[in-house]
Amino acid sequence: MKILLLGKNGQVGWELQRSLAPLGELIALDRHSTDYCGDLSNLSGLAETVRAVKPDVIVNAAAHTAVDKAESEPELARTLNAQAPQVLAIEAAKLGAWLVHYSTDYVFDGSGDKPWIESDATAPLSVYGATKREGEALIAQHYSKHLIFRTSWVYAARGGNFAKTMLRLGQERDKLTVINDQFGAPTGADLIADVTAHAIRQLVQSGAKAAELAGIYHLVASGTTTWFDYAKHVLDQAEQALPAIKIKATEVLPVPTSAFPTPAKRPHNSRLDTSKLQRTFALTLPAWQSGVNRMLRETLN
Ligand SMILES: NC(=O)c1ccc[n+]([C@@H]2O[C@H](COP(=O)([O-])OP(=O)(O)OC[C@H]3O[C@@H](n4cnc5c(N)ncnc54)[C@H](OP(=O)(O)O)[C@@H]3O)[C@@H](O)[C@H]2O)c1
Repeated sequence: MKILLLGKNGQVGWELQRSLAPLGELIALDRHSTDYCGDLSNLSGLAETVRAVKPDVIVNAAAHTAVDKAESEPELARTLNAQAPQVLAIEAAKLGAWLVHYSTDYVFDGSGDKPWIESDATAPLSVYGATKREGEALIAQHYSKHLIFRTSWVYAARGGNFAKTMLRLGQERDKLTVINDQFGAPTGADLIADVTAHAIRQLVQSGAKAAELAGIYHLVASGTTTWFDYAKHVLDQAEQALPAIKIKATEVLPVPTSAFPTPAKRPHNSRLDTSKLQRTFALTLPAWQSGVNRMLRETLN
């Protein structure tokens, strides 16, 4: 099996380089790749890459993920998040290749308190959410052999993340204020990459029945938290498990989203129901705390 991976150096892309490697020949690109064009803003170059590589599976982990910046550069966000996935779907259709793509909880408006299911109505609040939703729709319009995984609150051991920022601030400051009215599940890039590899393996093993697996799936760790409780969990873990770290912050205060105004509006309810994914692919999604604890130990010990 030949797999073309785009966005190899992002949080999810980096982990996909590990999880996809045992499945076959992996051609992993980023926007600076020279052998083939891996730049999603170059739509003709991207199409040319798919035609030249002739993959069995395309995995697109690249995206315009700077949620606030997207408000001031909507055209670039649309090119990367909607038009590039459309090109990938059109080119995948010509080859009969599978297309695996990622989307977001930001396609929803965040109302209510029930976990969203895949068929719920979307109503994005931001340019990022709207362009990601358009990408989903364009893929579905052009080609049925796709898996789209909607995820949320992604973190990775590599690079910066919310947990590491809270730990740094917790050591520097006496008091932290953290948003307590957005609900979701922190999800490790490693979990997303592992589930992706399992799903691709299942597509291959399902033969003619693989088409029945196509569609959108919600893929997040189990459980729900807020940024405030997530921050408290990280500081507690650090004090218990990482004795070298001295937490100075004696107060962590919950505040509403309105305390930190941002260009992009964010959904309050980002809970995603993952039953469809767990049932269809016979997988169990672990509690969000287990991945966060592991990441803390790996990166800070
Ligand atoms: N991060 C989250 O919290 C979150 C939440 C829900 C859904 N998602 C979705 O999950 C997927 C993976 O996200 P992630 O967390 O891994 O994001 P990430 O770490 O920001 O990675 C995105 C990657 O896209 C690359 N990229 C940006 N512009 C590009 C271009 N013109 N051509 C090629 N590559 C380009 C970036 O490259 P550079 O490093 O060179 O900029 C980066 O490597 C995305 O579809 C995202 O929308 C993420």
